[in-house]
Amino acid sequence: MPDSHKTLQTPTVPEQFSSAAKLLRNGGVVAFPTETVYGLGADAENDEAVRRIFSIKGRPADHPLIVHLADAGRIGQWAREIPDDAFRLAECFWPGPLTIVLRRSSLVSDLVTGGLDTVGIRVPAHPVAQTMLREFGRGVAAPSANRFGRISPTCANHVRDELGSAPDLILEGGDCKVGLESTIISLVDDRPTLLRPGGISLSELCENLGREVSLPGQPDPALRAPGCHASHYAPLTPACVITVENIAVEVSRSVDTGRTVAVLCHTKTVTDLYPATRCLLLPNDPIGYGQALYASLRRLDADGYGSILIEAVPETEPWRAVRDRLCRAVCS
Ligand code: TXA
Ligand code: MG
Repeated sequence: MPDSHKTLQTPTVPEQFSSAAKLLRNGGVVAFPTETVYGLGADAENDEAVRRIFSIKGRPADHPLIVHLADAGRIGQWAREIPDDAFRLAECFWPGPLTIVLRRSSLVSDLVTGGLDTVGIRVPAHPVAQTMLREFGRGVAAPSANRFGRISPTCANHVRDELGSAPDLILEGGDCKVGLESTIISLVDDRPTLLRPGGISLSELCENLGREVSLPGQPDPALRAPGCHASHYAPLTPACVITVENIAVEVSRSVDTGRTVAVLCHTKTVTDLYPATRCLLLPNDPIGYGQALYASLRRLDADGYGSILIEAVPETEPWRAVRDRLCRAVCS
């Protein structure tokens, strides 16, 4: 297929959804927008197609993929022993930026789960994802559409830049509204556990379930699930998260050593302090910040600075998902 036909840069139109569904039925790999980040999807029941996702991403085979469905109606096909809590969360947050980990059914292949006995299921809200899933009518296994360990794409151009013509089709869906990957909650054990913070907050989950949700603790490098890796969602440029006071020290050190440095900040104080330094000012609220973070890191990566200094964000609950991604962006 010529490259010009692979990428749909204009808003997706009905025929393109049927092409996407046809490709998925034939073992193709389709990149598609969700409200969190863009995904790289294949028929979850086709092992060959799922293998292609791993190979395009350069992702180790033992890292599980999320199965995307058009609605909650068919989770019974993909999971077993589904607790009431799952239906409660689905009712409240689907379609939306929430992935629920459940015990898997026999339909789910080892390739999708990385050999685990559980499966992550998500019903995305983005209208393009919704229409694609409805046209296809089955489960789509999809990780984020980036190379393994790199920053997730939040617009179709990021997917193109990173994966080129490897996907059979890239559906256009504009900028992702959430901009950070989905919240992941595991309902496999007695107590629900937050595996990855995201657009749905811990307090919303607790409130909906009427009970506590455990936190997984700090990222453990020994864990094999990619979102739990200490170094994930990382820019290529060395980055560190530091306080406003320490930015001064680092900026002058870099000037002394002739290294170029960029600052990613969210308070005006910082841009005023360093007029001669490249400062990228993000919104000073966790939702706006989360939306813009990955695109900003990509931009600074492309500009080729020696390092990126990231102003530390508040230690409060609403900033949890952003803090988590910043932590993963800087540790390697
Ligand atoms: O927002 C999102 O979740 C995006 C969009 C495309 O849906 N997807 C995404 O996929 O971020 P990926 O593969 O980049 O990250 C999936 C995360 C990984 O951290 C993986 O370990 C976790 O989901 N995961 C998937 N299945 C799991 C399972 N059975 N148990 C525990 N974690 C699981
Ligand atoms: Mg990912």
